[in-house]
This record gives sequence, structure tokens and C-alpha cells, in this order.
Amino acid sequence: MQSMALTFHPKSASKMHVYIRTLTINDLDKVIELENASFPEAERGTPEKFKYRLTVCGELCHGLFTMTKPHPDTPKGVSDFKPKEILIAMIIGSKTDAALVTDASMRVPSNTINLTSESALDSASHTKDDDDSQNKQPTASAGSSTQADASSSALQPLKVSKPVPDREGHVEAGDTICIHSMCVASSYRGMGHSQILLKDYISRMRDAGVSKRIALICHREITGVYTKAGFRYRGTSKVTHGGGDWVDMTYEFSGPPGKATFRRQG
Ligand SMILES: CC(C)(COP(=O)(O)OP(=O)(O)OC[C@H]1O[C@@H](n2cnc3c(N)ncnc32)[C@H](O)[C@@H]1OP(=O)(O)O)[C@@H](O)C(=O)NCCC(=O)NCCS
Repeated sequence: MQSMALTFHPKSASKMHVYIRTLTINDLDKVIELENASFPEAERGTPEKFKYRLTVCGELCHGLFTMTKPHPDTPKGVSDFKPKEILIAMIIGSKTDAALVTDASMRVPSNTINLTSESALDSASHTKDDDDSQNKQPTASAGSSTQADASSSALQPLKVSKPVPDREGHVEAGDTICIHSMCVASSYRGMGHSQILLKDYISRMRDAGVSKRIALICHREITGVYTKAGFRYRGTSKVTHGGGDWVDMTYEFSGPPGKATFRRQG
């Protein structure tokens, strides 16, 4: 995804330049840091979950960034200043074949053994159509050391004979994008950043045409953040993660146009 320069939000006092791009595994440390600073321990995603999602479905994970700037007094041409990206806000997503966020959709599949193996990640992003062929593959023996063995043992084939609804983790062929984490760094809150990122995410996902809806869970008192972006309240969630007490929200792409409109520059 190409990054886009964005219009300033009217509430943004600092008038800083921000841009949005897809997050990759190279952003893992920043992502974990922002998650840990934003959520109580019981509700946080684990580093393993972020590693999994950034590798298997990074295209559903977007970050809103700004760059550090040299001091205004720095003479031009003599500075060895190297700008660094600051992660202001992020949305971490994956897909599910359920209609709402479920506990299963939030898990790293139990058959995911080695997330650093490319073959494991290829297998993890399999489609429903791939399941039959995977079931025909023999299960690799544990402890193998060759590359070929590592490829086949990295992820055990799913031991099912037909698609199981509500499977664990990312389901590439699923119709629902689940937002698992949405947060803004504390010093950048109250400036409209959540809306900039959410509306851009909705717009890109609608254009991509890869799903019917976006779903998320949130605490009741936060629903206003999402209704403002065009999401609708769907009732109490069955998710038990972090002690439960969540509500379901969805943004349906087939429904009447939501309030989410967004102007891009560049
Ligand atoms: C919730 C959060 C994402 C909001 O981000 P933000 O950039 O500060 O929000 P915005 O400035 O875009 O505000 C958008 C709207 O949401 C409302 N809002 C913002 N934070 C809110 C909160 N904590 N509770 C309820 N409403 C909130 C604002 O009032 C604003 O509406 P208004 O323009 O009518 O006043 C941010 O506070 C955060 O990261 N919190 C910690 C993590 C978290 O709770 N994430 C949500 C998980 S479901």
C-alpha cells in the first residue's frame, strides 16, 4: 500500500504531517509498545498475536505515522539528522468466516508452530479451497532438520474433513474483517486521529472488495468513537477475552452508506 499524505484534522493543534501505511513485521516493536501503553494487561494482544497478524495478514494492519523533524535552528546541509517514524495510531485486523469478532478469531491457530518460517505463513493464509488438499498431505514428523521437513512441519495440516465455521486465527476467505486492536498514542489523543485512521481503513477495505463487513468489539463507553465513523451497535458480544463485557459493532459494506467519508491528498 502506498502511503498517503493526509489533510489536517480541524482539532489537530500541532498541524503535523501524518501519513498512513500498511504495517509489516518490521514494525513489530513499535506495535507492541503502542498496544502495551494503550490497554490494560488483561486486554492486550500478546506479542505472538502481533507477530502472527503482521506476517499472515499485514495488509489488514494499518498505521498512522508522523516523522521526527530536525530542530528548526539546524543549518541546512550540515545536519546528519535522520528522521524516524513515530507510530501515532494503529488498526490491527484479520479475517474470519464468522459474522462478528469471536474468541477463535482472536487466537493464533494452535497448529502454528514457527512464525518465522515462510512456508508456515503461506500455509497459515490458506483459503477454504485449500483445506482439502492440505488434508491429503501427510503429517510431518517432529524434530526434522532439513528445509523441506521444516516446511511441512512448520504448520500441521488442519485435521478436518470439511470447513469448520469460526476457525481460529486469520481465515483468508472469510467475509468479515475483524479489528483486534485500535489505539492512539496517549500524547496524540483528542485530535481526531482515530477518525482519520478508521475512515481511511473503511475506505480502503471497501475499495479492495475483500469482505462484506468490518467487525470489532469494544467497551460500551467507547462505542461513540466507532458510531462516529459509521459503525453500528450489534448488541452484547459473546467474546470472553480480557474478562468479557464487550459489545459488537459492525460496518456493513452492503448497507446504506455510512458516515465515513475521507478526503485524501496526493
Ligand atoms: C479510544 C481512542 C482510540 C480514541 O482516539 P482519539 O484519536 O483520541 O479519538 P478522536 O480524537 O478521533 O475522537 C473521536 C471521537 O470519539 C470520542 N472519543 C474519543 N475518545 C473517547 C473515549 N475514550 N471514550 C468515549 N469517546 C471517546 C471523542 O469525543 C470524539 O468525538 P467528538 O469529535 O464528537 O468529540 C484512544 O483514546 C485510545 O487509543 N484509547 C486507548 C485504547 C482504546 O481504548 N482503544 C479502543 C479499543 S475498543
